[in-house]
Amino acid sequence: MLGAQGMLGRDLVEILFPSYEVVGWDLRDLDITQAREAQEKIAHLHPRIIINCAAYTDVDGCESQPGLAFAVNAEGVRNLALAALAVPARLIHLSTDYVFDGVSQRPYIEDDPPSPLNLYGRSKHQGEIFLRESGADHLIVRTAWLYGPRGKNFVEAILRQAEAGKDLRVVDDQRGSPTFTRDLSFAVRDLLEGGVQGVSHVTNSGSCTWCEFAREILRQKGMRTIKVHPISAEELGRPAKRPAFSFLDCSRYEKVSGKKMRPWEEGLKDYFLFRGMERKPKGGET
Ligand SMILES: NC(=O)c1ccc[n+]([C@@H]2O[C@H](COP(=O)([O-])OP(=O)(O)OC[C@H]3O[C@@H](n4cnc5c(N)ncnc54)[C@H](OP(=O)(O)O)[C@@H]3O)[C@@H](O)[C@H]2O)c1
Repeated sequence: MLGAQGMLGRDLVEILFPSYEVVGWDLRDLDITQAREAQEKIAHLHPRIIINCAAYTDVDGCESQPGLAFAVNAEGVRNLALAALAVPARLIHLSTDYVFDGVSQRPYIEDDPPSPLNLYGRSKHQGEIFLRESGADHLIVRTAWLYGPRGKNFVEAILRQAEAGKDLRVVDDQRGSPTFTRDLSFAVRDLLEGGVQGVSHVTNSGSCTWCEFAREILRQKGMRTIKVHPISAEELGRPAKRPAFSFLDCSRYEKVSGKKMRPWEEGLKDYFLFRGMERKPKGGET
């Protein structure tokens, strides 16, 4: 597994183990932009399956660092695809709702043509193209709006501001599906076990705007006195443009796994349980 120390990677390693013998690598173990190193290290390990959670995920940062974005999110994926082909191993690769432009009137299906609005989305789309063209046995899992107990995320950003007693201004003209990394990890395991190929969309079910997401976070934490003011993405003025509507249709996942992803509000409840457990001091420590 590449990107094993990332927000999703850490949960995925935990969920796959011990059913699978998992070797977790991150940037210090293998820089996926280095083609030869990737070939050699992967050939030496000789895995049956490669899962790529490694990416340059700073969406605004990609606008000022397009070289790095394409090196990691596109060429890095090609390097892994060629390494997978040589072993041969199956490559499961994580991609994003940001490959779409957000103008659709209905949830995006896997076959909808990508048309990314920002550099992050373009680099991730190029990674998908390289992987498809490589001829490697592969699955692309597109997901969205991730948050998990082991990473910087929107939930924590909202709580930090709320705990400081600040009223919030949150974007209300972008809609998507907040997705708990543990729920996604179980779904990736289902897809892996089902031998699914091609592309599969996976998010928690339902959708909301960032503003509605923030209100639900505060509601679940009982912080009702904090006000959340809706603003437009334009008012926020971030460097990267984001799709207004990035709701992914997950019916392919449901069909192949026979399971339904639970509503995003339920995923959030569980996130708070996990977060609580991880923050409890361990017994015996002084
Ligand atoms: N987060 C989201 O909301 C979201 C939404 C849709 C799709 N996704 C996709 O889901 C996947 C996992 O995302 P995430 O949020 O878990 O990402 P993350 O927390 O940023 O983790 C990415 C990991 O990749 C590592 N990495 C960066 N450059 C690398 C390189 N050249 N070689 C090897 N490893 C490298 C990073 O290491 P360092 O930390 O040391 O740089 C980090 O551990 C990504 O493919 C992402 O595009 C994420």
